Amino acid sequence: MTEECFPDEFVWGVATAAYQIEGAVTADGRGPSVWDMLCRKEGAIWAGHDADVTTDHYHHWRQDVALFRELGVGGYRFSIAWPRVQPDGVGAVNDKGLGFYDRLVDTLLEAGITPYATLFHWDMPLAVYHRGGWLNRDVCGWFGDYAEVVVKALGDRVHHWLTLNEPQVFVGCGHYDGRHAPGVRYSMSEMLRCGHHALLAHGHAVQRIRAHAASARVGYAPMAFPKVPRTEADEDVAAAYRIFGSMRQATHWNLPWWTDPVVFGEYPEDGLRVFGKDVPAFPSSDLAQINQPIDFLGLNLYDGQVVVSGADGEAEVVPHPPGAPITGFNWPMTPEAMYWGPKFAYQRYGKPIAITENGVSLRDWPSMDGRVHDPQRVDFLNRYLRNLHRAVAEGVPVEAYFHWSALDNFEWADGFRERFGLIHVDYQTAKRTPKDSYYWYRRVIETNGAALLGVEAASAYTQRFEVERKRVASILEAFPNADR
Ligand code: FCB
Repeated sequence: MTEECFPDEFVWGVATAAYQIEGAVTADGRGPSVWDMLCRKEGAIWAGHDADVTTDHYHHWRQDVALFRELGVGGYRFSIAWPRVQPDGVGAVNDKGLGFYDRLVDTLLEAGITPYATLFHWDMPLAVYHRGGWLNRDVCGWFGDYAEVVVKALGDRVHHWLTLNEPQVFVGCGHYDGRHAPGVRYSMSEMLRCGHHALLAHGHAVQRIRAHAASARVGYAPMAFPKVPRTEADEDVAAAYRIFGSMRQATHWNLPWWTDPVVFGEYPEDGLRVFGKDVPAFPSSDLAQINQPIDFLGLNLYDGQVVVSGADGEAEVVPHPPGAPITGFNWPMTPEAMYWGPKFAYQRYGKPIAITENGVSLRDWPSMDGRVHDPQRVDFLNRYLRNLHRAVAEGVPVEAYFHWSALDNFEWADGFRERFGLIHVDYQTAKRTPKDSYYWYRRVIETNGAALLGVEAASAYTQRFEVERKRVASILEAFPNADR
């Protein structure tokens, strides 16, 4: 690798999830999911939106793959809808549903795009929820059976698998604060039980994948919760790393509770302490079952918390300063998280890393010229990817980067308010319009990252305003001091 770019085998990709893009919720025998149920619940989704149609990818997937091919991605991370494959969650397999992914995989391969399939991105079959969902220990075996069906069908062509997407969110938001499907507010101990079963289900799925696709590379995609030292002084770096790997509060918003059992075969001690009596009782053999070897650790990474070593040496979180950049979702923009996140995760877990999600929501719309100009996305990505490059250049084994998202889509409880895509979608017509960032990312991919390293890349889209910008600059120059 030269300093200017990423390793030759680095995978530049885009990511989506079935429920957010597919639509066609009753087509070809698909069963209902917990999200279909939540979408029917008054007040659950922003502005009463639902995902019955969303981008209608189920009927536009060929066009979408063609756009991904033109983008030049090496990998596409998508998820498989369990209720399409097994409408009742257990038993009968719906060949039509499975057939959709079968064709998708073939078409991706023809386009030279490596499929990365996620088995679970939150759309649990409603019938499984009616049998207790994640609270019922039997779900672990059912999920294993589902994984086996999928891997038997696709494992000859799909060599990269992810088991669960963000257990912190589907367990915590779904079963504790109730914002996500199934929208219940269990007690802390019930939520932790659900979480334990999800981890166990992960273990079952890994075993089934290995049993039916011997050469598969298997990963897991938790939310990353990166920490960023405020300065690069040793004490700040050490403080940030300490917080990254510790659990100081009884909350599901952390990485170690969800990743230590997977990689080390044990829950973190401080987590057991803070959760105390709420930790579910389970047979000790569960930990070995959860601790199946994984080949890479996925990180969904959007922002990080800044940490400083305080006066008494205690690690302290520094709030995002007032007015500092935030995204459409009001998430802080913290590009350094893309350096420290993978670095700390590798330091703690020792697994190769794939950035399974990263991106930004903005209020994009087609301009009068018919194009979608999103310079803030370009700037955001330029900053984050330069930080990723720094991690890679320093030897952190990051194999892949999947931009969230390929196209605008249904953002869960926030409906269609948030637009994360490189491709704009008009939800009334299903019309796709690649945004400026799509063309920019295309150039990044084409140059294997070299295009990131010149500032021209980020400013290219505003250069046509050169004359106006000069005029404004001269106005500013005329008033060199702030008015007093
Ligand atoms: C992640 C989810 C993904 C998407 C992004 C914005 O938490 O995994 O589906 O909603 O956030």
